[in-house]
Amino acid sequence: MSTPSSAAPAGGGAGILGIETSCDETAVAVVSAEGEVRSSVVSSQIELHAAYGGVVPEIAGRAHLELLPAVLARAFSEAGLARRGPALAAVAATSGPGLIGSLLVGLSEAKALALAWGIPFVAVNHLEGHLFAALLDHSGPGRPDPPWPLVVGLVSGGHSLLISMEGPGRYRLLGGTLDDAAGEAFDKVARFLGLGYPGGPAIEQAAAGGDPGAFSFPRAMLDDGLELSFSGLKTAVVRTVEKNPDASNEDVAASFQQAVVDVVVAKVVRGAQAVGAGAMCLGGGVAANGPLRAALGSAGEELGIPVYLPSRAMCTDNASMIAAAAWWQLEHLGPSPLDTAADPNLPLRLLR
Ligand code: KG4
Ligand code: ZN
Repeated sequence: MSTPSSAAPAGGGAGILGIETSCDETAVAVVSAEGEVRSSVVSSQIELHAAYGGVVPEIAGRAHLELLPAVLARAFSEAGLARRGPALAAVAATSGPGLIGSLLVGLSEAKALALAWGIPFVAVNHLEGHLFAALLDHSGPGRPDPPWPLVVGLVSGGHSLLISMEGPGRYRLLGGTLDDAAGEAFDKVARFLGLGYPGGPAIEQAAAGGDPGAFSFPRAMLDDGLELSFSGLKTAVVRTVEKNPDASNEDVAASFQQAVVDVVVAKVVRGAQAVGAGAMCLGGGVAANGPLRAALGSAGEELGIPVYLPSRAMCTDNASMIAAAAWWQLEHLGPSPLDTAADPNLPLRLLR
């Protein structure tokens, strides 16, 4: 269990308790109305799934059930809250997208707590949570409003979306992946190279000792449009290794990573220029990638466009981003009905 960020209990301002169980992280956080993260506990199931080379849905659901009570208790104690009758403004949970069995665990717990404590329940879209992650680290009381629109490359294990965020709750889809998500490509290539699971951190680590120019992998639609595609890149890696059995994993990993970085940065920059963005952002697990963060930072400096990067802990799945999104939702859209269903394919609400 890790504590990416926690702080001493703040005076004033009841928090929202957020619960995130959409995939393989059991996470609970308490975030104040001012956006202060009072506790953020993430219990990763990596060890349970590593032997299978990926997330096994049945194992994930059962593990959430087993882990959630301890994660909740720790988040409460780190936030300085009593377990019973806490002065919370609401309880929020991810309702989708994600694995149905996993979503149901967090969602049911949040509804039960809200009902028992007589406080509002808020159902949060996981993707919207990722969009709020950068805001948690870069906005709040005493800071200027973000320079809307923000163009966000939301690159995770399940999604690769290019979004123009015109404000909280105001999203336009600029592009998406035609096939694999960026994180999926990292995971599949890592599995092929025998680097283990999850693939992103394993590739980043191997790549640190390799030459990003060793192999020239395809960069799909680099100079064209706002859509992404990663399946050709994955196939090219497999073919290259088959043809060059002596190629070092480090060189292959570095060359693959560089291809993903080049494409994601090019698309975020093109999207930002298309809408006249005030800042460029990254979100989702792949946004924790060091070379990707550095490359977008350099592009922003070159073009004079500010870059907002969530902290690495805020990129991968966590419950702070769910509680942060819930605050906005509660204040602008109100609570969610207690019969809100878990939806594995829940889409992001987009502006028309
Ligand atoms: O956002 P996330 O934690 O879960 C989803 O919503 O999917 O993203 C997980 C994905 C995985 O595919 C993982 O391999 C990737 O993010 N990832 C990374 C890194 N850390 C996690 N990819 C590249 N570099 C990393 N350092
Ligand atoms: Zn995620």
